[in-house]
Amino acid sequence: MNIGVLKETKSLEKRVAIIPSTVSDLTKKGYSFCVEKDAGNLSHYSNQSFIDAGAKLVEKNDVFNCDIIVKVNTPTEDEMRSLNSNSLLISLFQTIKDIDLVKTLKEKQVSAFSLNLLPRTTLAQKMDVLSSQASIAGYKAVLIGANHIGKYMPLLMTPAGTISPARTLVIGAGVAGLQAIATSKRLGSKVEAFDVRPEVKEQVESLGAKFVEVENDGGDGVGSGGYAKETSEEYKKRQQEVMKERIAKSDLVITTALVPNRPAPTLIPTSMVDLMQPGSVIMDLAAENGGNCEL
Ligand code: NAI
Repeated sequence: MNIGVLKETKSLEKRVAIIPSTVSDLTKKGYSFCVEKDAGNLSHYSNQSFIDAGAKLVEKNDVFNCDIIVKVNTPTEDEMRSLNSNSLLISLFQTIKDIDLVKTLKEKQVSAFSLNLLPRTTLAQKMDVLSSQASIAGYKAVLIGANHIGKYMPLLMTPAGTISPARTLVIGAGVAGLQAIATSKRLGSKVEAFDVRPEVKEQVESLGAKFVEVENDGGDGVGSGGYAKETSEEYKKRQQEVMKERIAKSDLVITTALVPNRPAPTLIPTSMVDLMQPGSVIMDLAAENGGNCEL
């Protein structure tokens, strides 16, 4: 069985679908690899490191001769055209959003696995790309945001004076949000967080952050399987009243709120952004699904 690794083409994408250590592990199990030239360059895996691991370095067109094609991002239209019938594609495409892609795959009789749809069971945990990528997004959002606010994150007491800590507000405390809370806390920021799912309160507090409460009698916004669902208009109003006050005091706002199979909810309208202090920052991690911030 031949596995082909495509070089990512999306702007700013640094990842590669398979790294040399995985190539050598799977080669021992009888798989062979064709890796597109320079596929690992941006993630610091040289062509030579793939060759040393047992892969063959090929031009893009030759990758499509493999039985299995792996790629991080959704294949481009050109790549879709090049896929051979009866091959197998493994990628992170969104079956709900990338409808045309799914239709083309069906027409071409290409089998495809979207890792976005992998069940989040204990057995599949090692392949849970949603968690691994959300976790790093939450971590990086804090580092990048902290760089932009132009303030210290921690409380500083020095002979030259006292500087109060920056304030971080995290909206949506799933995997990305919890990692953002933990990272902000480690940097010394004062952290508040909010989520529609009330069970998250304990997790937020265990990381040393304050949970922002919004009155919720009827389980509004609580979906099944640990996920959220869309909230009622009335709840949205109550939420925005509470958020308005918190956001006006925050230096760094990190939003991560998502609802399965729906566009991301708009939680920060322009009127709320207007209340923010000059120099404060919003990191909208829901941007790929439409964003939590209206702007
Ligand atoms: P997600 O990426 O779907 O959503 C992020 C967060 O946004 C969620 O906590 C959600 O409640 C929140 N949210 C949605 N609408 C909101 C709104 N209007 N206002 C405020 N917050 C809103 O969630 P993620 O990170 O994928 O986690 C979902 C669940 O899956 C969690 O319960 C998590 O513990 C669970 N999980 C289970 C795993 C396992 O068992 N292997 C692995 C990873 C996560």
